[in-house]
Amino acid sequence: MSIVSARMRQVKLSPSVAARIILNQLREEGRRIIDLTIGEPDFTTPAHICDAAHAAMQRGETKYPLSQGTMALRKAAAERIRLDTGIEYPLDQIIVSTGAKQVLYNALTATLEVGDEVIIPAPFWVSYPDMVELGGGVPVTLETHSAANYKITPDALRSAITPRTKWLMLNAPSNPSGAIYDREELLALAGVLREQSHVWLMTDDIYARLTFDGGPATHILQVAPDLADRTLAVNGVSKCYAMTGWRIGYGSGPKDLIKAMAVVQSQSTSGACSISQAAATAALTGPQDCVEAFTRSFKERRDLAMSILTQAPGLTAVAPGGAFYIFPDCSALLCRTAPDGTKIVTDADLVQYILQTTGVALLDGGSYGVPGTFRMSFASAPEEVRAGCEAIKSVCEELTAVPA
Ligand SMILES: Cc1ncc(COP(=O)(O)O)c(C=O)c1O
Repeated sequence: MSIVSARMRQVKLSPSVAARIILNQLREEGRRIIDLTIGEPDFTTPAHICDAAHAAMQRGETKYPLSQGTMALRKAAAERIRLDTGIEYPLDQIIVSTGAKQVLYNALTATLEVGDEVIIPAPFWVSYPDMVELGGGVPVTLETHSAANYKITPDALRSAITPRTKWLMLNAPSNPSGAIYDREELLALAGVLREQSHVWLMTDDIYARLTFDGGPATHILQVAPDLADRTLAVNGVSKCYAMTGWRIGYGSGPKDLIKAMAVVQSQSTSGACSISQAAATAALTGPQDCVEAFTRSFKERRDLAMSILTQAPGLTAVAPGGAFYIFPDCSALLCRTAPDGTKIVTDADLVQYILQTTGVALLDGGSYGVPGTFRMSFASAPEEVRAGCEAIKSVCEELTAVPA
């Protein structure tokens, strides 16, 4: 008999964590690895944010903070949301948690009855289905198509909804595809949600400010403010302020939902680290030029990566509108035997082959719900991005030279 619960046995270790374990092993064996699996900026946290953490420690802000988040940070988050989207939330409609991940987790834990369905468009961030399962819910994958830039359509959404549907998860810019919905697309999706008043909406906006071809991504509540009474918006400081290790995220939504999430939090972590909250307050209220500089740099890396990958035979890559991932379709490279005799049948085989032959680490698209693809992060240093893409291209050339 296993000590591990049946529910827990359904849950996988996050593939990026699993990849990190393998890569560390290879590095210990002396292999040079170019790690393009990482979902975090290579920048250090800006100095004024670190200074704010230091000052908080010196002021003695080292006790338990309010479980739902410090007033200062909730106020800062509310103001940031207002500036970015025009949507206003009172402080009791905001919760601060240990990363956006814990906001999502609290929400699912607080709301799911056993068997409730959560619609998750694929490709999806790898944690969504597992978090839903941990909460006793049923992840319902909603297929999308590369030709539609992996975006869901109103018809597909309508047909995925059942009486058991509790949530639709919407993440834009998307990890892993970088896709962003425009105002018309959001309006059309909002129209479906209006027809289905039992369905709640969880928007994961963690990459909303990291966009490359215009202003920040439009939030669905900007075009459909009437959905606010059944929408939870999730955000955080990890990605746009290079603060992944500080573990601060925040959620805004209806009062009763936030209250229930705060209860989950009070009985699990008691709230996020007080010092990190002071740092995040400085991030959200201080100078924002760091976000602009990071975004510019990611855009340059995207363009660099795309200039190489679009020359790689057998790959089809769409330029991401935001976030820091490229999600190429590699299905034309599968079902081949490499020159060294390796059989490459799935995207996982291809990713493994690229790692073994070139030292470039990627994540297989199957883990993101779309077999025949892979995810490449361009959050690493530009020289690593260039070298990684050149190596991927050379593998594509080698594989397309052998018959399919
Ligand atoms: C789509 C998405 N949501 C949430 C998170 C988690 O963010 P945080 O570091 O704030 O927990 C990530 C991190 O990779 C992500 O890609």
